[in-house]
Amino acid sequence: GKVGVLFGGRSAERDVSIMSGNGVLEALKSRGIDAHGFDPAERSLADLAAEKFDRVFIALHGRYGEDGSLQGVLEQLGIPYTGSGVMASSVAMDKITTKKIWLHHGLPTPRFAVLEADTDLAKVAAELGLPLIVKPPHEGSTIGITKVTKAEELKAAYDLAAGFDEEVLAEEFVAGRELTVTVLGRGKTARALPIVEIVAPEGNYDYQNKYFTDDTKYYCPAQIDEATTAQIQRIAVDAFNALGCEGWARLDVLLRASDNKPFLLEANTAPGMTTHSLVPMSGRAIGLEYADLCVEILRGARL
Ligand code: DAL
Ligand code: MG
Repeated sequence: GKVGVLFGGRSAERDVSIMSGNGVLEALKSRGIDAHGFDPAERSLADLAAEKFDRVFIALHGRYGEDGSLQGVLEQLGIPYTGSGVMASSVAMDKITTKKIWLHHGLPTPRFAVLEADTDLAKVAAELGLPLIVKPPHEGSTIGITKVTKAEELKAAYDLAAGFDEEVLAEEFVAGRELTVTVLGRGKTARALPIVEIVAPEGNYDYQNKYFTDDTKYYCPAQIDEATTAQIQRIAVDAFNALGCEGWARLDVLLRASDNKPFLLEANTAPGMTTHSLVPMSGRAIGLEYADLCVEILRGARL
C-alpha cells in the first residue's frame, strides 16, 4: 500500500521532525515500501485526505503532530497511523497531566509545582528546594527549559517557559544519571529495549547537545546492574501502559545518584528518529537496524 511519512509540521520542533522524517522516509523506501513524505505545515488536511494513504508514519514532534490533534484527524479519515491514539498522545504531550497519572499509579516522578502568573515563586523554591528545573509542559527537545540554582533566577526561568505555555512546570532537580527507555508494542505485549545512558558535556543535554554536537556520549546498554536495569525497564513499561501508549514511545528517566532510585520525567510518543536519536540506538543494541525499526513501527500502525 501507499505509505505517508508525516514530518515537518508547525511546532517548535519542526527542524528536528524534518531530520526524523527524512530518515524514516529513506529507510522505508530502502525496504521497498512505497513511502511518500507529507508536511502538514505546507499542505492542507484536504490534501492529506486526497493522498489516499493506506497508512501513515507519524514523524512529527510536538504540538499539532504528536499531541493527539492529528491523530484525531486520521481517525476521522480512517487512516491507520503509527504510535499512540488520541488520548495517550494528548496526555503525554502534557508533562503535568502525565505526572499526575503516574503518581496515581504509584510510579516515581520528581516532586513538582505548577506555576502561573500569580504564583509566589519564592514559596515554591522554599517548598521544593533548589535546584529546580523549570519547563513549558508542552514542549520537547529541551526548548524553554532552565535549571534554576538561585531563587532570584526563578522569575526569568518562568518568563522563558511562559513564552511557550500558559502553565509552567517546576520540578525538583534529581541529581543522577540520565537514561531513556524505548518501549515497543501495546498492553501485555509492550516491551522495553535496552536502556540508553546519556552523558552530555557538563551534564547539559540541551537542544545543541541533542542534535548537533558530537560531544554527547551515549552508552547502550547502559552500564547498570541487572536488577536495577530490570526495575527501570519494568517501570518504563508500566509508565507506557499507565498513559495508554501504543506502538512505540520513549520514556525519559533519571537514576538518582544517592540511592539508585529511578524517576520518570516524561513520555515521548513520537520520539526523535534523527541520526543522533536514542530510539534507533536502543534498537541497534538488539540488532534491530534503523530501517527494521521503522518497518516494525509502521507494521504496528492502527486506527
Ligand atoms: N522530542 C524529541 C523529538 C524526542 O523526544 O526525541
Ligand atoms: Mg520530550
